[in-house]
Amino acid sequence: MAADRNVIIALDEGTTNAKAIALDSQGGIIARFSQPLTVQTPREGWVEQPGEMLLHASLQALRQAVSAVGAHRVAGLAISNQRETAIGWYRQSGKTLGPAISWQCSRTAPFCEALRQRGEREHIQKLTGLPVAPLFSGSKMRWLLDSVPEGRSLAERGEICLGTIDSWLLWNLTAGEAFCCDYSNASRTQLFNIHEGRWDDALLSLFGIPLAALPQVRPTSHLFGYTRGLAQVPDGIPILAMAGDSHAALFGHALGKPGCVKATYGTGSSVMAPVSTAQAEITTLATTIAWHDGEKLVYGLEGNIPHTGDAVAWLTECTGLGELAPEALATALSTLPASVDSTLGVYFVPALTGLGAPWWDDQARGSISGLSRGVKRAHLVRAALEAIAYQIADVVLAMRQHADFELSALMVDGGPTRNDWLMQYQADLLGCTVMRSDIAELSAMGAAIFARKALNSAGDDDLSRFSAHHTAFIPNMERHGRLQKRWQEWQAAVAKVRNGQN
Ligand code: G3P
Repeated sequence: MAADRNVIIALDEGTTNAKAIALDSQGGIIARFSQPLTVQTPREGWVEQPGEMLLHASLQALRQAVSAVGAHRVAGLAISNQRETAIGWYRQSGKTLGPAISWQCSRTAPFCEALRQRGEREHIQKLTGLPVAPLFSGSKMRWLLDSVPEGRSLAERGEICLGTIDSWLLWNLTAGEAFCCDYSNASRTQLFNIHEGRWDDALLSLFGIPLAALPQVRPTSHLFGYTRGLAQVPDGIPILAMAGDSHAALFGHALGKPGCVKATYGTGSSVMAPVSTAQAEITTLATTIAWHDGEKLVYGLEGNIPHTGDAVAWLTECTGLGELAPEALATALSTLPASVDSTLGVYFVPALTGLGAPWWDDQARGSISGLSRGVKRAHLVRAALEAIAYQIADVVLAMRQHADFELSALMVDGGPTRNDWLMQYQADLLGCTVMRSDIAELSAMGAAIFARKALNSAGDDDLSRFSAHHTAFIPNMERHGRLQKRWQEWQAAVAKVRNGQN
C-alpha cells in the first residue's frame, strides 16, 4: 500500500441521514459529510424508505468525502447501517421490489402474532436470541416477496435478492459483483441461527424465505469487494468492513473490550454489552451477534428503551421550558436539577407508549408520583433526568443475569450525554465510571476501525489510538450507596405502572 494511501472512508447509512467520515491513520476525523433522508408513512404503522434514496444519499456523501481527501489517499471503505430494515431487488436489473421496509414499520405485526399463536415464540427466541416482533427483517422480507407477482418462485430461482441495507449498498458499490452481509446484520433478520452462525432452514421455512435469495454472510472485517462503475469514485477501492450501526458504535467506543458497555442516549436509548457466549434464554433482553472478529463470533446483549431523552422533551413541553432557544434549554436542563438536592420524592416513569427493556409492557402508561405542595419545576425536571439514569441502570441490572457480563465502564454517546449533571448521576447510581465520547460519529468510527483491522490482519497495528476520545465521570461511591434506596423507590414506581395498575 502506498504510504499516503491511509484514509478510511466510513459510510453510516441511518434513518434520518446518510453520513460519510474520513478517518486518517492516527484516528482523526479529517472530513465529515451528511445528506438528509426522509421516511414515508403511507398508512398507520407503516414506515418505508426508497432504497434508491438511501443509495443516492450514501453515494453523494461518499463522493464528497473522496473529493475532499483525494481519491489517491483512500485505502478502503467501511459501512455501518440502520439495522433490520429489509429491501428486495431483482438480481438482473437491480430494480427494487418496492420501498425498503423500515425497522420502525409494524405492518407485519399480524404475521408475528400468528407465529406466537402457533407456539413458535420460544423456539424462535432460542435460535435467534430475539423476541418475535415486526421489528426484525424476516417478516418484512416475507412481505416483500408477497408484494410482487411470483415473488417466491423468482426468489427460489435466485432471481430476487433480499437483504439488509449493508448488502444493498455493497451490491451497488460493486456493480452487482458482491452480494453479502456481515454477521451482525444477519443476526437482526430473525432468520439466522446465532449459535451456529448460519441461515437456519427451520426459520427460513417458518418465514417462507428461500435461501437462494439471501446474501452470503461474512465476518465484519473482511474484503467484501471493490468499487466498480461509480461516477466520481475510482474503481478498485476495497470495501473492508460492514456492521449494524449499534454494533459498530460498541466497537467504536472501546474495540469490544470486555466490561465496556455502550449506552446511546437519544429519543430512546440502546444499551449493548459484548459477551463471549449466547444465552438466548434471557428474555428480558435481546441476544445478538455483536460482530465476527475473523475467527469467532462475539455476542452482544442489547436492551432498547423507548423513552429517555423523549421523556425530558415531553416534560419541557409541558412546563413551558420548550419555548427556550436550544442553547438556553440545554443550560436549564443542566442547572435546574443541580439547583435542588432531590426530587422531593417525585418519580417520573415515562412509559409514554409502554415500557421497553427490561420490562416489555406495551400496556403500561406513564406516571408522576410523590407530588407534594413544595414540588417545583426544578424537581420535575430532575425527576425526568433521573428517569433516564434509572432506566439505563435497570437494563444494566438485567444484563447481570448473563454469566459473562462484566461492567468496568459505561461508554456513552448521543445528545443527552452533553448534560454533565446527568452523566455524574449515572456514574454515581451505577457505581462505575461513565466515559463520554467526544465525537458524535461512533457508528462510522467503529466501522472505520473494523476496516483498519481488515487492512492490518497481522494485528501489528495498534488500534487503541482510534478509540481514545472520551471524557471520564468518576463515581462518588459514598453517593452511590445513598442512591440505592432511591433506585429501589423508582423500581417500586415502575411496578405500579406495569400491567395497567395505575
Ligand atoms: O435498530 C435500528 C437502528 O439501527 C436504527 O439506527 O441510526 O437509523 O436511528 P438509526
